[in-house]
Parts: sequence; structure tokens; C-alpha cells
Amino acid sequence: MGLIEQAAKRLEELKRAGIEVPLADSARAGEPARAEVRGGAGSDRTAPSPNDAQGLFRSAAEPAEAGAEAPARRSKLVEIDLQRLAAAGYVTPTAPRSRLADEMRVIKRPLISNAQGKSAAPVDAANLIMVTSALPGEGKTFMAINLAISMAMELDTTVLRVDADVARPAIPERLGLPPGKGLLDLLTRKDIDVADVLLRTNIERLSVLPAGTPHSRATELLASEAMTRLVEEMASRYPERILVFDAPPLISSTESRVLATHMGQIVLVVEADRTPQASVKQALATLEQCPVVMTVLNKTERSGSGSYYGYYGAYG
Ligand SMILES: Nc1ncnc2c1ncn2[C@@H]1O[C@H](COP(=O)(O)OP(=O)(O)OP(=O)(O)O)[C@@H](O)[C@H]1O
Ligand SMILES: [Mg+2]
Repeated sequence: MGLIEQAAKRLEELKRAGIEVPLADSARAGEPARAEVRGGAGSDRTAPSPNDAQGLFRSAAEPAEAGAEAPARRSKLVEIDLQRLAAAGYVTPTAPRSRLADEMRVIKRPLISNAQGKSAAPVDAANLIMVTSALPGEGKTFMAINLAISMAMELDTTVLRVDADVARPAIPERLGLPPGKGLLDLLTRKDIDVADVLLRTNIERLSVLPAGTPHSRATELLASEAMTRLVEEMASRYPERILVFDAPPLISSTESRVLATHMGQIVLVVEADRTPQASVKQALATLEQCPVVMTVLNKTERSGSGSYYGYYGAYG
């Protein structure tokens, strides 16, 4: 089935589920392009989510909290250079078939299943996924970008990638987007709403939240009550969306450990032949409270297999 047929089919499904589909025409200024679920479909996991509509039709506004009469906010649409991204070795929707794409499929499957409540044992806040590692430079950002794109390529999954490693923001450098307001601004200013700083991208169903304006007390801010409130607000405001946090390393920073306590799922990146076993154990010990911790062995190049991700396992 082609993309247009898929979109048409989805539109029909959304209409059948009683979801008002926002207009695709983002130029109609002032018109709230919000999807509303009628008849309490929120608890029905099989019904398409309002965010699906937004992802498919790229409405101009982020959906406001269900039922709230807040004025519609408009999130900026940005263009990620997909050729550049593909050349740098990342998964892109334009090149969906590659070894890396296949490996991402294996890694994302259980994460999506948990996030959509389809696993045998339900996981609290399973749509909040943090990608971290014991030490710097093990591939957290590489994994978080690939996972987010790969998940967004699923027709039913809307993804927000959060640049929570504010000391090494990935969005300007890796995604080639200009630096702007983001997470740190949300933590320091009351006049900014998530929808004001969130960026919609040319990758269907993928939005990104930049790290924001550098701040001298960034570490404290990330481990603050304000961050806890923001994460909770994002989780309840976008319950059908998967949030992928690119987080700092666990051993050298406290903010990652605080952030981990709010997450339903953790992806712990371990660099093959580099991360000492003691560091992996230390990192896992900091995650004991987290319901799901998946370990991904990155950069393995075993003779014969050539696979980057040789092994993954779930703990918890
Ligand atoms: N599987 C992989 N295949 C190829 N290159 C990779 C892979 N994983 C990571 N890299 C590269 O290794 C380098 C370090 O990765 P990355 O920046 O993602 O790590 P990080 O854990 O986010 O680092 P930091 O702690 O500094 O934020 C980058 O240049 C990245 O492109
Ligand atoms: Mg990084």
C-alpha cells in the first residue's frame, strides 16, 4: 500500500474512532488544529491517538491538553537534512532498509510494545524512555537519534526526542538545526510553553525538543523539582507519544540518575570492548528503581557478523 493510500486509510480509521482530524493546511492562521477524542477513547489502546492525526497531517499546532480550552500554540516546522543524516550513518525514512535499520527494529520492538501497553505486564510511564550509559562517548546520542527516527517510522508511533544532555546537545550538531530555545528555557521561564519550543520535523511523527539556552546551573536545573514537574506534565499531556530522552552518562552526573526515576524504560548503552564491567555494574545499580532496563551493546564488530549491536537484554 502506498503512502497516500495508507494516509487515506488512517483518516478513515480516525474518523471511525470519532477523532476530529485537524486540517492539513497549516497556513490557516488562528485556527486551532487540535484533534479531539470523543467518547472517552483515551483508555482504548486500540484506537488511534490524536497525535497520529497530527503526525500524518502535520497540523500546525501541538495538541493542547485534552479538553482544555487553552489557545492553540504553534510549533515550528524544521527541515532535517536527511541526506546528511544518512551519510553520517543514521537511519532515515528515505533509506529504510539497512543493517542498522534492522538492528533498530529489534531494539525498538519491546520498547514500543511496553509503551503501547501491549506487553504481558503493564509498565508505568512506559512511554518515557531514557537513553543513557555509564560513561561519556559510548553512543547514547547515536542510539537516541536512531531509535527516535526508527520508532517514528512506525505508522502508529509518534515520537518526541528530548535533548536532555544539555552539556552536549545533539540537535544543532547532529541534526543540523539552528540552536534555539528548549528544555533549559522551559525550566527557567514561566512564559514559555512546551509547544513554543518543540520543533516538528520533516520526518513524519518526529518532533524534537532542543536543550535550549545554555545556563550556568544547567546540572542543578535538570535535577530540580521543576524538571520533575516538566517531565510529569509532558507525560500526561502527550500520553500516546513516546518520549526519548538523550541523557547524560550515569556515573559522572547526578541529573541522569534523578531523571531515571521518572522513566518507565531505560536503554543502557554499553560500548563493546571499552566500558569496564565494574562501570556497567555501577550504572545498573543506579537504575535499580526503574521497571525496565534494556542493555544495548554498541559498536561490536565481531568477525563474521559485523553487527554493531551484538546483544541486548532486559533487566527488571
Ligand atoms: N554504532 C555506531 N556506529 C558508528 N558510529 C557510532 C556508533 N555509536 C556511536 N558512534 C559514534 O561514536 C561517537 C560517540 O557517540 P555519541 O556521541 O553518540 O556518544 P554519547 O554517549 O552520546 O557521547 P557523550 O557522552 O559525549 O554525549 C560519535 O561520533 C558517534 O557518531
Ligand atoms: Mg551524547
